[in-house]
Amino acid sequence: MVIKITRTEKPKEIPKDDLALGFGKVFSDHMFLMDYESLSWSNPRIIPYGPISMDPASMCLHYGQEIFEGLKAYHGKDDGIYLFRPRKNIERMNRSAKRLMMPELDPDMVIDALKELVLLDKDWIPTTEGCSLYIRPTMIAMDPFLGVRPSNTYLFFIITGPVAAYYAEGFNPVSIYTADKYVRAVRGGVGDAKTAGNYAASLAAQMDAKKQGYSQVLWLDAIERRYVEEVGTMNIMFKIAGEVITAPLKGSILPGITRDSVITLLKSWNVPVSERPLSIDEIMEASDKGTLEEVFGTGTAAIISPVKEIAYKDKKIQVGDGKTGPLAQKIYDTLLAIQYGKGEDPYGWCMRIDK
Ligand code: COI
Repeated sequence: MVIKITRTEKPKEIPKDDLALGFGKVFSDHMFLMDYESLSWSNPRIIPYGPISMDPASMCLHYGQEIFEGLKAYHGKDDGIYLFRPRKNIERMNRSAKRLMMPELDPDMVIDALKELVLLDKDWIPTTEGCSLYIRPTMIAMDPFLGVRPSNTYLFFIITGPVAAYYAEGFNPVSIYTADKYVRAVRGGVGDAKTAGNYAASLAAQMDAKKQGYSQVLWLDAIERRYVEEVGTMNIMFKIAGEVITAPLKGSILPGITRDSVITLLKSWNVPVSERPLSIDEIMEASDKGTLEEVFGTGTAAIISPVKEIAYKDKKIQVGDGKTGPLAQKIYDTLLAIQYGKGEDPYGWCMRIDK
């Protein structure tokens, strides 16, 4: 694939204080775009970051044909520049595309686009550990048409920006609130696709949680309203009596890449892991018995987010001693060591892109 590159004539100032970056507020100098029409992708190009012009009737704005991904670039081993498991993101984007009747992408083409874009803006990759260049591949439906059917034209774009922690708490433990009025997704719906509507659907509960002093929402399944699914923008894991339990991938939760990486690490450490339905009652019971050892969220943006407190209806429980647990700490340290090239990468998760 030949990507036409138009460099910016007005490079922006790169923020100097990595830890003050927050998340998702600063964008690098360039973006990648490519169009889909007549059943194929064409015109791959990198241009200066800036507004996209579109018809107000563009179908993505009306019927939600939008999918996206999130991955990160790091300064890793031997001063190289690395992406973490990028093919997993592209595979997931293609699954999301199928579910929303959108066109699939050629994974090699996307890898080329990621490499070109990230290397062009490589000075934007933060050097501080825990910070990275967040990459947001996105696809939107572009037909100017106000009827409900799949669009025939699409825009695929990739934007990037330097980030620090996603949640204000960083790696410090958070308090979460179990949604009992709203649900995030139902099996057979689009909960396992990374599409904008799932995030819009989460906002009302998120605001309820915030009002009551909690930072994230614990989602229960939509049918029985008993089984835990996700937390905030992450998958969630519970360590009960030595076993780590997380919800199975049955269609309503997002198949997280960090989730998959954590399960792989846990298995390699011989920590029992089980992907099975876990009810909120079982969690409350474990807390009463003193066997609820650790709870943590896993996600690309947040990495690992330990949980110190869970509210459910009128009950509030503390997890362990209310501090980050040793297992969450070990997972966080190991993932960071792999990503920043300070430790081994036994699974070949880091893809070097600057050589
Ligand atoms: C990620 O973890 O990368 C996500 O896409 C979550 C997003 C809402 C920031």
